[in-house]
Order: sequence, then structure tokens, then C-alpha cells
Amino acid sequence: MKSIAIDGPAGAGKSTIARLVAERLNFIYVDSGALYRTVALAVKQKGILVVPVQLQQIFSEIQIEMCYIDGLQHMFLDGVDVSDRIRSSEISQLTSQIAQLKVVREYLFSCQQKMAQEHDVVMDGRDIGTEILPNANVKIFLTATAQERAQRRYKQLLESKTIKTLEEVLQEVKQRDENDYNRAVSPLRQAEDAILVDTSDMTLEESVDFILDVISKKLA
Ligand code: DC
Repeated sequence: MKSIAIDGPAGAGKSTIARLVAERLNFIYVDSGALYRTVALAVKQKGILVVPVQLQQIFSEIQIEMCYIDGLQHMFLDGVDVSDRIRSSEISQLTSQIAQLKVVREYLFSCQQKMAQEHDVVMDGRDIGTEILPNANVKIFLTATAQERAQRRYKQLLESKTIKTLEEVLQEVKQRDENDYNRAVSPLRQAEDAILVDTSDMTLEESVDFILDVISKKLA
């Protein structure tokens, strides 16, 4: 099986780019962030505190499944499709907190590895190249300036009619960066053998073409 790991901070365009790259390669796109988001939604629904002992407890009570419907990854929590619900700002912030806990990362570890053992995958996240798939065929570290990432997120929110100022969105981006880069367990960092791609001045198409070019050279 072949695997492409794409890591990077929130809003660098990972999911859109990874999905398009997977489509072009005919690989399965695995959005690992969606797994963490589903755990966060479970935490919110159960109203529990973000502490290891309580999380360990809910893992024996909940069922998280990842399914592909018309080629798109859907997340199910206890049999309910929660793919849209896990995208709110509130869940984004909560996810960033729960993702810091070892107990959560361990719980999701084997599920991510199993996907790569059974399929050719493009998997995006924060620790795919460093922890989950250290032997991935190609590793990309995708980034863009915090300002540019906030602008992109702000545009998306305007389209979904969510009312937030650009400054608020920028603060959220910075807060998530802070959590992702500085957490003790599996912090976001570029794997030594990953290729750095800064998309600040690239269009989506340029980013996809650039990455496909890197992949085809590496896989050749
Ligand atoms: O990629 P995303 O924005 O959907 O990720 C949501 C959160 O989950 C983000 O704060 C970082 C965390 N995450 C992680 O710690 N490890 C991953 N492999 C994927 C996401």
C-alpha cells in the first residue's frame, strides 16, 4: 500500500488539497482531524470534563465510525451521521483541547494506521508523518502565514453566514496554533523527511499541482 502524509497547522488548506490530491491519485482521503472532532462532539454531548479519566470512561460507551459515501468521508457517532455538526467553531476549539491528551491520541492511533494498511491513502493531520505513518512514501508539511490562514477561514465563515470579525478569526487561528505546536504529546512539527510547502502565495490549483509533482517524482 502507498501512503502520503500531509501535516500542517489549521487553515493551511490541508483538507481541500489532500482531498483533491487523493482524487487525482485514486487514493482514499483520510481526514484524521474529523476523528478528533468526533471525540470532541462526544465530550460535548456527554457534558464531561476534558480530563483523561472521564475520557477513558466515555471511550467504552461511545462508538465512532468512519464511512465513505459517494467517495466522501462521513463520521458517525453512535450510529448518527455527525459530519456537519463537527465543523462548528465551538467544536474546533474543544477539539484542539482534547487532542492534547495522550489518552485520546492512543484511542485514535490504530484506526488511522489500519486505514493505511488496507488502502492507498492520502492522510492529513498534525502528526501523520511523525507518529502515525513514519514510513509514509511521501510527507508534505503544508503551511501558510497565520494572517493568510485567518483570511481564508474568514471567507469561509462569511459564506456560511457566521458572524465573526477577521480579528476574532485570527485570534482563534493563533490559539489553535499555540495548542497544536506546544502540546506535550505529539506536537505539530515537520518530520525531518517532509517537504515544506508554503501556500501563502499559491492558488488552490497551484498547490495541488505542486504537490502532485512532488509525489510523482518521489513515487517514480
Ligand atoms: O484538521 P482539523 O482542523 O480538522 O483538526 C482539528 C483539531 O484536531 C486540531 O486542533 C488539531 C487536532 N488534530 C490533531 O491533533 N492531530 C491530527 N492528526 C488531526 C487533528
